[in-house]
Amino acid sequence: MADGNSETKSSNQMWGGRFASGPDAIMEEINASIGFDKKLYGQDIRGSIAHATMLAHQGIISTDDKDKIVHGLNTILSEIESGQFEFSRRLEDIHMNIEARLATLIGPAAGRLHTARSRNDQVALDFRLWVKEELQRTEKALTGLIAAFLDRAEEHAETVMPGFTHLQTAQPVTFGHHCMAYVEMFGRDRSRVRHAIEHMDESPIGAAALAGTGFPIDRHMTASALGFAGPTRNSIDTVSDRDFALEFLSIAAIAATHLSRLAEEIVIWSTPQFGFIRLSDAFSTGSSIMPQKKNPDAAELVRAKTGRINGSLIALLTVMKGLPLAYSKDMQEDKEQVFDAAESLELAVAAMTGMVRDMTIRADRMKAAAGSGYSTATDLADWLVREAGLPFRDAHHVTGRAVALAEQKACDLADLSLEDLQSIHPSITAKVFDVLTVEASVASRTSFGGTAPNEVRKQIAWWRARN
Ligand code: ARG
Repeated sequence: MADGNSETKSSNQMWGGRFASGPDAIMEEINASIGFDKKLYGQDIRGSIAHATMLAHQGIISTDDKDKIVHGLNTILSEIESGQFEFSRRLEDIHMNIEARLATLIGPAAGRLHTARSRNDQVALDFRLWVKEELQRTEKALTGLIAAFLDRAEEHAETVMPGFTHLQTAQPVTFGHHCMAYVEMFGRDRSRVRHAIEHMDESPIGAAALAGTGFPIDRHMTASALGFAGPTRNSIDTVSDRDFALEFLSIAAIAATHLSRLAEEIVIWSTPQFGFIRLSDAFSTGSSIMPQKKNPDAAELVRAKTGRINGSLIALLTVMKGLPLAYSKDMQEDKEQVFDAAESLELAVAAMTGMVRDMTIRADRMKAAAGSGYSTATDLADWLVREAGLPFRDAHHVTGRAVALAEQKACDLADLSLEDLQSIHPSITAKVFDVLTVEASVASRTSFGGTAPNEVRKQIAWWRARN
């Protein structure tokens, strides 16, 4: 076609209106990661300073060039932190943006920084450092959430509430005991975080493109300068590996699942029908049309964040699953998933910590509910086994008849008269009333890990010593 204009027009039509200059623009857009990997600027600069320092120490570059590089990198760090740095999409990613700016600042010495490394080990390093730091933040946040639960558990070691199975009243427990169940869950999350920090505590830098390098580098030196326990042992694996990101996302998904179950309980407990808790104004909203309402929005949003976090895990697993060794550009898609999940998890833990600390426990409502639904029926059966020598299956049957009678009389088990009970089984004595109250039921569950207040206090002490 002779007419240049119509040529442009036809490629526009082919590539789509947004891409004014055709395939180049599409390539730039699909290829660039600067929009999200600029988050890694601090890790990238730290990694480069460690690398340059090692190169000079090994005599691979001159001390003079190293000094220029380090000075230039520190300048870039303050430019980025003060918002003066201009990120360019044409320069693709954070690594090239920083290197290009370094060249402008210090000239040819900048070109020596990339000796004995590749963007493949560079990005593996930067991202690993970021994930490690995020895990350290997660560990702290979980510790805060556990502390909030320990305080509430201590305060409510004696507050009785119904324990549920199938969300049907099962046996009375204490609110303190219920809180401690969450301490166990978030405690496991935290130990997974700690293990993951140990797993990933190896430095990728020096693996180069995939095969290592012929330059006499010292990978132990860069590893220790960057706070790693040591260098990774296989250069091919090093640039192919995103297990640290997958581990982060798996841990985040499990923790989010725990948060979501808690969120669900908060939603249920705060309904007028349950009325076990009252959320503080800070973590609820009113309705624009129904003045009586107080909605548990923060809990609902925590519950929803779980969907995003699980989605991120599945997304990255899927990105990684068919990749041949070593690096492929697919792996650039790792970061947004991790960044998004990290932000969601941080927010969810913070919101939950606030809600747990702020919510009002309505002990009267919990107690009333604890006694309803014949929640001490198991205590009656256990009493018949212990005091009247019945086999448990028979005791279960006798108790069933007592429940039926109470139902017929529309009263609780403890409100049946001794005559009523004796009409069901003659060996029942007045002493049975000692176990039919919810307090007695709870106090009797003294097995290790059980709901008796003293047992719960022991578990609180165990956790306090480890939090
Ligand atoms: N932006 C890239 C990423 O995040 C950096 C590594 C690029 N390596 C390469 N060989 N093109 O994965």
